[in-house]
Amino acid sequence: MTRFAIDGFGLTEMAAIHLPAVAALEGEIATAPWSAGMLAEELSLDGWRMVLLAPDRTVVGYGVGRWLHEELHLLILGVAPEFRRRGLGRGLVAALLDEARSRTGSEVLLEVRASNLPARQLYESLGFARIGLRRGYYRQGPFGPEDALVMACCGAR
Ligand SMILES: CC(C)(COP(=O)(O)OP(=O)(O)OC[C@H]1O[C@@H](n2cnc3c(N)ncnc32)[C@H](O)[C@@H]1OP(=O)(O)O)[C@@H](O)C(=O)NCCC(=O)NCCS
Repeated sequence: MTRFAIDGFGLTEMAAIHLPAVAALEGEIATAPWSAGMLAEELSLDGWRMVLLAPDRTVVGYGVGRWLHEELHLLILGVAPEFRRRGLGRGLVAALLDEARSRTGSEVLLEVRASNLPARQLYESLGFARIGLRRGYYRQGPFGPEDALVMACCGAR
């Protein structure tokens, strides 16, 4: 398990044993949550998948990215509400960027709801910039369909 800058928290590779806890957290956090089955399928693909463990080893965060050619696409990311605003989300995204840097010339891409200011600020603070807009990309949401901002970091663009 990789130690974190935050005492007692650590990142580890997502494995089958973590999937019920990740799916439960995703169900609590996400508007269109991924199921344990969807996560299990993802584990068989070329990707980056990490869980964030609290000092008592419970799952309090996660991130899933998939490689598509030289692009690492961040698909889902979450930190349990009671553990937010202490740098854990930033640590997860920093680990994702490290993974991308392990393949020369690659970049990280993601979509984020236009209204999701916490996530947008997090990504911008780590160097992501907006490169596009997908109108009505999110069909489900508290206010109906919503646009996605496409953001990218650290490639050659
Ligand atoms: C986005 C999310 C992962 C951030 O996790 P977190 O652990 O709270 O993030 P951090 O504490 O590392 O915050 C890093 C930076 O993000 C920004 N940020 C995080 N939460 C914020 C908030 N509520 N309002 C404004 N900015 C916020 C700030 O710039 C913050 O830096 P600072 O604390 O030095 O000001 C978390 O809020 C979450 O799980 N949200 C629901 C799921 C989600 O939106 N996922 C992303 C989908 S694209």
